[in-house]
Amino acid sequence: MSGAWFGEGRAVRLCEVGPRDGLQAESAFVPTADKIALVNALARAGVSKIEVTAFVSPAAIPALRDADAVMQGIERRAEVVYSALVPNVRGAARAIDARADELNLVMSASESHNLSNLRMTRAQSFASLRQVAAMAHGAGVAVNVSLSCAFGCPMEGNVAIEDVLAWCERYARELGASGVTLCDTTGMAYPAQVSAATRAFLERLPGTALTLHFHDTRGMGLANVLAAIDAGARNFDTSIGGLGGCPYAPGASGNVCTEEIAHALDLCGYACGLDLPGLVAQARSLEPLIGHAVASQIVKAGLCSELHPRPHDFEAIRRRALARA
Ligand code: COA
Ligand code: ZN
Repeated sequence: MSGAWFGEGRAVRLCEVGPRDGLQAESAFVPTADKIALVNALARAGVSKIEVTAFVSPAAIPALRDADAVMQGIERRAEVVYSALVPNVRGAARAIDARADELNLVMSASESHNLSNLRMTRAQSFASLRQVAAMAHGAGVAVNVSLSCAFGCPMEGNVAIEDVLAWCERYARELGASGVTLCDTTGMAYPAQVSAATRAFLERLPGTALTLHFHDTRGMGLANVLAAIDAGARNFDTSIGGLGGCPYAPGASGNVCTEEIAHALDLCGYACGLDLPGLVAQARSLEPLIGHAVASQIVKAGLCSELHPRPHDFEAIRRRALARA
């Protein structure tokens, strides 16, 4: 794995969001020690960036109320970026205290979703994120901004790409963000739209790292990843087992699945640098923790390279067929 965030060519970087986007959507509280073990296992499987948790209100997201203990309890590998979602100044102070490598600031492109999810107008969120970014820069911590509902809002419908790009420019220029993640919070993005948005972003903000964050809510996840790659994107958020979803976005469901995307991209000749069998085992091991099966097709079907035995009477079938020839 080249690890190059701006990597060209065949290297694709997957940022693992299962411990945050994934576990926030679960009704079961996954014990702190299991969350820590999950993050450590993902790093061992070669994931170079992990969104470890969210420093949000524990009343808003009870499943991640142990964010401080998780961030403080994980092993640190020099080659891995340990990121955390932060909505406000309080969250930034907690994340910096817990030694997050990167603050992933969050707001929504849609006023309705921003108010539902963060209880603020977009203008209020931006003002708060300005303070958060200053805190991060002061502490020497990197800043990424995740823009929810960038491809459509489940309450408002279409979101204009011009508005999305205008926010992105403000993140880069006014907040000093080194990266922006365009999030398709409820799986409304479609390949032609993704392609146009990716090209426009790369042209308008060539110095800002672009990540795409898709949910597979309507079965367009992999198609969107491929469309974005064709248009020049190389960084994607994905979630182990296909867990995920924002509890404050009606109809939300799982992120594109790490092992499915890595498997598909490997077959297409892209290098994600991940231990696929290790990831599949990890995804399977989540099931008893969350109390249900994961959505991952690869967990059910296995990798294409895992072949099955021929029928037990195969030799007899072959002999009969040859005798008829
Ligand atoms: N971490 C911990 N506690 C926090 C917090 C943070 N980052 N931000 C606020 N709080 C606490 C306050 O201290 C206060 O606690 P109290 O009731 O014990 O006094 C309470 O939460 C309410 O604070 P307030 O500032 O009024 O927040 P709010 O109720 O308007 O909610 C957010 C605003 C942003 C904190 C909340 O909506 C939130 O955390 N949203 C995140 C949702 C999310 O993660 N969605 C999925 C990811 S996109
Ligand atoms: Zn998401």
